[in-house]
Amino acid sequence: GAIKKYQFDIKVKSVSRLCHAKPIVTVNGMYPGPTIYAREGDRVIVNVTNYAQYNMSIHWHGLKQYRNGWADGPAYITQCPIQTGNSYAYDFNVTGQRGTLWWHAHILWLRATVYGAIVIMPEQGTPFPFPQPYREFNILLGEWWNADVEQVEKQGNMLGLPPNTSDAHTINGKPGPLFPCSDKYTFAAEVESGQTYLLRIINAALNDELFFGIAGHNMTVVEVDAVYTRPFTTESILIAPGQTTNVLVLADRTPNRYFMAARPFQDVPITVDNKTATAILQYKGVPNTVIPSLPHLPNPNDTRFSLDYNKRLRSLNSPGFPAKVPQKVDRHLFYTVGLGTDACTTCVNGTRLLASLNNISFVMPQVGLLQAHYSNTPRVFTADFPDKPPMPFNYTGAPLTANLRTAHGTRIAKIAFNSTVELVLQDTNLLTVESHPFHLHGYNFFVVGTGVGNFDPAKDPASYNLVDPVERNTVGVPTGGWTAIRFRADNPGVWFMHCHLELHTGWGLKTAFLVEDGPGPEQTILPPPKDLPPC
Ligand code: C2O
Repeated sequence: GAIKKYQFDIKVKSVSRLCHAKPIVTVNGMYPGPTIYAREGDRVIVNVTNYAQYNMSIHWHGLKQYRNGWADGPAYITQCPIQTGNSYAYDFNVTGQRGTLWWHAHILWLRATVYGAIVIMPEQGTPFPFPQPYREFNILLGEWWNADVEQVEKQGNMLGLPPNTSDAHTINGKPGPLFPCSDKYTFAAEVESGQTYLLRIINAALNDELFFGIAGHNMTVVEVDAVYTRPFTTESILIAPGQTTNVLVLADRTPNRYFMAARPFQDVPITVDNKTATAILQYKGVPNTVIPSLPHLPNPNDTRFSLDYNKRLRSLNSPGFPAKVPQKVDRHLFYTVGLGTDACTTCVNGTRLLASLNNISFVMPQVGLLQAHYSNTPRVFTADFPDKPPMPFNYTGAPLTANLRTAHGTRIAKIAFNSTVELVLQDTNLLTVESHPFHLHGYNFFVVGTGVGNFDPAKDPASYNLVDPVERNTVGVPTGGWTAIRFRADNPGVWFMHCHLELHTGWGLKTAFLVEDGPGPEQTILPPPKDLPPC
């Protein structure tokens, strides 16, 4: 492969949206940031220099970073942050992966503005397993706050108040003409009649799962999280924060201007949605004066759509791209996902919300877990995360106060090299009903099963799909339900796992897996790079 080099300058820049200018953190002054292009087999080196007054770290979301957690990026998990005035070169190989991924800041809420696409082309001479598109577009979905996002974050964590929801959703950083002062900032994708386009859709929003659709046009889903899927056609897609979805769109309608739109899926419709982001699918030659029409999108509380859509997602599972689903399980894990409250001295009402896995709310360490593990530094974490909750209860039943006494700790699970792991994530119905997109670093996993209510270990595994389940790096745990995933622990290191709703991550909905070294010389963590940021 080739070596692809990028320079990322982290700097603050004033950006104007919704009639309102504010300084935001950017890469190279761009919002969204630059796209990383690579081919399967390439080596990528991104030198990040931090000129902002914030600590920084960048995560390459979905890249497996085999043996190379040093390039993964989550602050205090695999590295300490890059401090103001310092640089760090993320140096990694793109092996065995092709498709759409993305990168984002992995510290505080800075990923609100610090994010961009990663496009990995197949090896030279290897075609896509679907009709070759004529052209392609990156579609990055995001959220915009008029307020400073770090202030918004502090509201939730330091003051215990519900933080402001965003003021707009965005497509490629732009809210679209349904918002004030946004006309001239609208993103438009120009298409030619009769041609097929590949849309690389990324949900970079902080806290919202989103529906996305294009007026008058169906989409054919061909890939999610950089893994080919069995193609299927749909009017709308559902995409959770952290996920990517590639779709083919055939420009075969009357030449016109059509809106693409994104708006949130909320299990509990709390607010009336007034935050629909739009962009334009623009047929060549149609004047800009034609008013586009909006696509039909599912209702904000359409749980049925969500269940059906996720069921349609399957691995391609072709001879060239077989689904290597672990058929036997060495280690069974069962984690409850809960929201609760906690005493808080800095908070307005003396309490704040917190979130937990198996009743443990994760405490961020002061030094990177990967360094601590690699150098055998004691007392940074304990490798004793429980395989199941402290006591079984009716997870999705009436609110239980017993579970609200949440424990705190930097506790992670130790996993034997190359063992096969099944993890059942069980949502609980304690304070509020929420669905949670869980992301595992360093791996893809197979989503072998999902259901509503309480997971039944005697019955539910019989309905697993062990043939062609979807393979991905981020999966939704449904409201009041469960999701079962399987993976082979063949990547040694310390790998973060967390809810990709930034609000919940901040409340402690996270842990990590410590995957031990294997016996062979090619099965151990690589030595750390010389410029790894010090703590
Ligand atoms: Cu995209 Cu740990 O995150």
